[in-house]
Amino acid sequence: MTSAQHGTRVTIVAVGPGDNGFLTLKGKQAIEEADLVAGFETVLNVIRPFAGKAELCPMAYRDQEEVLDYAVGKVKEGKSLVVCAWGDLNVSAKELLDRVRRRVDHVDLIPGISSVQIALSRSGISLEHAVFVTLHVRDGAGSALEELVHYLKEERRNVILLPRPYDLMPAGIAADVIKAGVSGDRQMTVFQRLTHDDEQSWSGTVSECAAITTEFSDLSLMIFHRPPSDQ
Ligand SMILES: C[S@@+](CC[C@H](N)C(=O)[O-])C[C@H]1O[C@@H](n2cnc3c(N)ncnc32)[C@H](O)[C@@H]1O
Repeated sequence: MTSAQHGTRVTIVAVGPGDNGFLTLKGKQAIEEADLVAGFETVLNVIRPFAGKAELCPMAYRDQEEVLDYAVGKVKEGKSLVVCAWGDLNVSAKELLDRVRRRVDHVDLIPGISSVQIALSRSGISLEHAVFVTLHVRDGAGSALEELVHYLKEERRNVILLPRPYDLMPAGIAADVIKAGVSGDRQMTVFQRLTHDDEQSWSGTVSECAAITTEFSDLSLMIFHRPPSDQ
């Protein structure tokens, strides 16, 4: 017995990138057994069919603190709570994890399948040949953009990038990296709504991407492909 048996406890389940066939069996079981399940509305839509007996606690950016306070209040009354997160827990999900960690004594994590893994498998890229950069952060997007330019100029790896809806989106990012000296001829792919019924992908050069005027989905992921080597 460890001290982890005592105190308040919450499970965070990563639900995958949209199609609930990518929810793990462990995650599904935790949701089926929970008294309360909290998460953003779009995340709850993924797990709704499995949350039979649970009280669903949908949250939005503006009321997430209040919803988590309410749900953790129920944990203190003896109920079990699962908080759901999109994709995987270790990919650009830290803000939510920290919000839960601040409120309870113990957090159990059930990882999931990230949109990044789906994009890698769609494009046949191994993780060891890629670097990952996210602009999906409240602060620090400026230094993430600098890192992006650094890796693109290095030309050693494929770069996987999460844009930030809706101020740092694919066409603007492509224009910015060209301005920073990256070759407009580099090949890239933008995936939208991976695993959803209306999934799309676009491939072309960075210059072509910079010229796109139609809007991209908030679920967009960019891959800048490693240039082919000369040998
Ligand atoms: C806050 S991050 C969370 C990422 C999530 N933890 C994951 O592992 O996929 C949200 C961003 O991930 C990317 N994303 C998530 N799901 C996606 C999907 N199904 N298709 C394309 N991009 C996706 C988009 O860039 C989106 O704005």
